Amino acid sequence: MLFQPFTFKNGQTAKNRFFKSAMEEQLAKHNRPTEQLVRLYDTWAKGGAGVLVTGNVMVADNGKGSINDVVLTDDRSMDTLKAWAKAGKQNDTLLIMQINHAGKQSPKVLSPTPVAPSAVALQGMDGFINPPRELAAGEIEELVGRFIETARLAEQAGFSGVQIHGAHGYLISQFLSPHHNRRNDKWGGSLENRMRFLVEIYQGIRAAVGSEFLVGLKLNSADFQKGGFDENDSIRVVQKMSELGIDFIEISGGNYESPEMLTAKESTKKREAFFLDYAEKARAVSQVPLIITGGFRSEAAMNEALQSGHLDFIGIARPFALMPDLPDKIRQGTYQTITTNRIKTGVAAVDNKIGAVLEMDWYMAQMALIGKGKQPNPNLSPWKVLLKNLWENGKAGLSTGRS
Ligand SMILES: Cc1cc2nc3c(=O)[nH]c(=O)nc-3n(C[C@H](O)[C@H](O)[C@H](O)COP(=O)(O)O)c2cc1C
Repeated sequence: MLFQPFTFKNGQTAKNRFFKSAMEEQLAKHNRPTEQLVRLYDTWAKGGAGVLVTGNVMVADNGKGSINDVVLTDDRSMDTLKAWAKAGKQNDTLLIMQINHAGKQSPKVLSPTPVAPSAVALQGMDGFINPPRELAAGEIEELVGRFIETARLAEQAGFSGVQIHGAHGYLISQFLSPHHNRRNDKWGGSLENRMRFLVEIYQGIRAAVGSEFLVGLKLNSADFQKGGFDENDSIRVVQKMSELGIDFIEISGGNYESPEMLTAKESTKKREAFFLDYAEKARAVSQVPLIITGGFRSEAAMNEALQSGHLDFIGIARPFALMPDLPDKIRQGTYQTITTNRIKTGVAAVDNKIGAVLEMDWYMAQMALIGKGKQPNPNLSPWKVLLKNLWENGKAGLSTGRS
């Protein structure tokens, strides 16, 4: 089943069921995409995935999650964007740009006062992230427009579609969460109101782009946070977005305060797919093309998940940074199951404090190698990655998000 093509309702076809999930590459310079980024996607497209999703591209300068994010607000970088789209679409690959605004998950060196639906501070991020201020209603409307504009520019550059990042605690996910969204205007309160930001972004994009352009969503199955966005809310969002005609939904979970997307429980990890049970519940209410992401490593687990009939694509992130041709290897029968152990320095004080940052940085370093035309290095020293980050970005580098 992994190699069965899939045709979306708007006519675009993915040649197989491998969906390379978004990983922020940190390969932009001054907000703009670079040649290194283009080379990375050239390699991935040649590796055989049916769908490639870019790392999050930010819709506004005040919404960056990390220092070297791409920010796309105008057509100044259209040449490089076109080269990026061309490279990523080679070999009959669909290339989707993930579009995002970090909201309150923006480090203080980038956003002295980040914005959010309500002024609710993140817990445990004092050193790196400042408490947010509440967005005014007019600013919310303006941000809806920013998402639409970025999607329009992605289409102009030749991308196959966009994925709205509604997961992992970023701005859209902050609106969805009753913990983070305490508003009592039309943007907060009931789930219908909390969903409004997402719905308006989706509808605005759909109206601004051609009917063939894919518009999808990444959504949390839950935030795994007391009083937060839970599974019932999430299933209702799937239902609503399906009714509105969204082209696909990718399921993940967690946020900065509770990073389930990277670190599932031991029991879940063994079963590989972190969010499989959720897929069954979502499929019961909707036929929208579904992807689940988090933990897939063995060919057997991927096949089993597809055969369950509850999902349509296998979302994979970290393994692609170590093995860009993972789909081709499976097709050729040469795949040896990849393991992705936690990246650790071995010094508990360091690992406990910045373990997730180190994990992200280590994979970003692998993507940087591929972008330079080199091979990934599974033996890369975590210390080397850490020191390089500190050298280049100072303390600010340690606040790199988890996307
Ligand atoms: C280095 C790195 C960067 C990431 N950046 C993003 C991102 O930009 N957007 C996003 O939705 N998820 C991002 N993620 C999360 C992945 O898409 C995925 O949900 C997570 O890694 C679990 O999948 P895996 O077990 O196959 O790696 C990132 C993960 C890593 C390791």
